[in-house]
Amino acid sequence: MPKKVTKAIFPVAGLGTRFLPATKSVPKEIMTLVDRPLIQYAIDEARAAGIKEFIFVTSRGKGALEDYFDHAPQLEQELRKKGKTELLDILKDTNMDSGAIAYIRQHKALGLGHAVWCARRLVGDEPFAVILPDDVIAAEKPCLQQMVEAYAETGGSMVAAMEVPPEKASSYGVLEVSEDMGDLVKVKSMVEKPAPGTAPSNLAVIGRYILSPNVLTNLNRMKSGAGGEIQLTDAIAEEIAQDQAVYGYRFSGQRFDCGSKSGFLQATVSFGLAREELRDDLSAYIRDIVNMEKAAE
Ligand code: G1P
Repeated sequence: MPKKVTKAIFPVAGLGTRFLPATKSVPKEIMTLVDRPLIQYAIDEARAAGIKEFIFVTSRGKGALEDYFDHAPQLEQELRKKGKTELLDILKDTNMDSGAIAYIRQHKALGLGHAVWCARRLVGDEPFAVILPDDVIAAEKPCLQQMVEAYAETGGSMVAAMEVPPEKASSYGVLEVSEDMGDLVKVKSMVEKPAPGTAPSNLAVIGRYILSPNVLTNLNRMKSGAGGEIQLTDAIAEEIAQDQAVYGYRFSGQRFDCGSKSGFLQATVSFGLAREELRDDLSAYIRDIVNMEKAAE
């Protein structure tokens, strides 16, 4: 049986330029879906999958993220004085055990592969997970947990996978499949952001990974790939070239691309509708505006 996955890397060094001006002073990962920052969804998913050590790869200007996971004694004291136990409970999810969380700086924006490589000494010689907080996945069983369960059977390396419309494939890492077993596929090759019309399939990599530590060794070579960046996809593809097994996992759940404005808004509506206390108001409002739009056509 493969070694248990207990460490996860969260690459959070990106500038978030698509969300300027907001991201001038607020890290993208602190932007909220309803009332919880993107990063909280990622952490909850990691915890559900059994992750015990959380490694953040950050950059200049991400201090708010570190504060977010700290205790807030003054705020907690105020809430306690006022008897607001529900709010105190909500805050508990934001706290981490001492020593369970580490921050590493990526000093230069050299790509996702480089960001993951920056955490190599903290990962050591064991399998690890990577979660891209921009990809928010709503699922009955959290996506990484689904993958950890599948990984217990397969070992190797595994990426989350989802069919995308063919014209969108060039925005993703894309899998070439050698064996399709339903939820699980065996990967023959993978290519980062293929030029339009050249993608080997429309099965795209989504931001959840369980990786062999050997991928970090591959990253040592620092080969630059698509967009001149050091790509994680390329380091995983090298595994296949070295005869190591790489799998794609078709997760169940709905993925939102919260790195785009439209995806972020869709996630906001969807997570809003999922909340009992908001559902009636929000759905009435949506119905109204849809009717108004129809009437205006
Ligand atoms: C990254 C990965 C890509 C993957 C995508 C999923 O790309 O490099 O392989 O398909 O995340 O969201 P990015 O969206 O950061 O350009």
